[in-house]
Amino acid sequence: MIVESNVPLQPYNSFGIVARAQHLARIASEADLAALHADPAWRDEPRFVLGGGSNIVLTGDVKPLVLKVEIKGLRLVEETPRAWIVEAGAGETWHDTVEWMVRSGYPGLENLALIPGTVGGAPVQNIGAYGVELQDRFDSLDAFDLETGRAFTLDAAQCAFGYRDSVFKHVRSGPNDFGLAGRAVIMRVRFRLPKPWKPVVGYLDLERKMEETGNFTPSPVDIFEWICAIRRAKLPDWRVLGNAGSFFKNPTVTPEQCADIIARDPKIVHYPMDDGSIKLAAGWLIDACGWKGKSVGNAGVYEKQALVLVNRGGSANPVTGGEVMTLAKAIQTSVYERFGIRLEPEPVVV
Ligand code: EPU
Repeated sequence: MIVESNVPLQPYNSFGIVARAQHLARIASEADLAALHADPAWRDEPRFVLGGGSNIVLTGDVKPLVLKVEIKGLRLVEETPRAWIVEAGAGETWHDTVEWMVRSGYPGLENLALIPGTVGGAPVQNIGAYGVELQDRFDSLDAFDLETGRAFTLDAAQCAFGYRDSVFKHVRSGPNDFGLAGRAVIMRVRFRLPKPWKPVVGYLDLERKMEETGNFTPSPVDIFEWICAIRRAKLPDWRVLGNAGSFFKNPTVTPEQCADIIARDPKIVHYPMDDGSIKLAAGWLIDACGWKGKSVGNAGVYEKQALVLVNRGGSANPVTGGEVMTLAKAIQTSVYERFGIRLEPEPVVV
């Protein structure tokens, strides 16, 4: 394993922001992590784990040692009467993994097609779309502890999944605190795909596809292709227009707060949650504040979906992390002033 110096990170983040890693190590196996841990030059240095770079905003050069995870491998581990257990290396591309599973006869992740990023990033923010979250199809994962130099396995409960959240997004600040950010490197993820397969088609966009096509008994491949078409129509391709997916989480409020907002804005898009709280569509809130299509420098609000911030300068004159954060703060302020709601960014700001 070689540690490279002064490495450009523009190709490794989906916004296409220009920044450099002072030092970067490519991790292709557990042995690379063990070698890093054994090397006195790097053992105690701060680290930043980079997957597909699809959920980060780089605001400057990265000083911690960047670990670029490139661990590969796709295999069926086990088939039982109740599930397929399929394992993928953390460095595999998420979408290609979903496509391989669906086309190989291991369905269950089709609603999560076309989400940018890698397999290792998926549990970090518990990715979700169209009625399925990673935690619904998760079995376990293997990670490497950079402090102890040992590999370990976590089940779903130990990952502490929440809405776009997990133990991997938190930094441990005390002995009784949980948090594995900067400490654990995810190496392999195992998915539990329940049998018999059942389609998840409760989302309006999918119901529309069934009406349009007259196909009310879609196969996993049909749903995979519908999801790809839905996302392509609504969300920008980061290879064409840099972005990091939804820039803010959908906020939750109490029924009282929601009733208060409905009294002023009857059209607000809201969904009741199982725990009694109400989830609001952040995209609608931002749209209602008039942000769709607006820009600050080279940072813009996508014309078709106000929740997505985009790089309007392309690769020649790319947006800076500072411009993205200035736009994000301006949006947060106007949503707060109009609705009294604080939007929380979804990507990790580095
Ligand atoms: N809306 C507007 N204006 C906008 C954007 C949205 O009025 O500019 C309204 C829509 O009409 C719709 C509602 O807001 O009624 C929700 O929009 P949408 O269905 O597009 O979903 P979302 O809440 O914006 C979430 C996830 C997406 C995921 C989709 C589909 C979050 C933060 N985002 O988006 O995930 O693909 O649902 O399940 O939870 C991501 O996390 O990066 C991501 C793309």
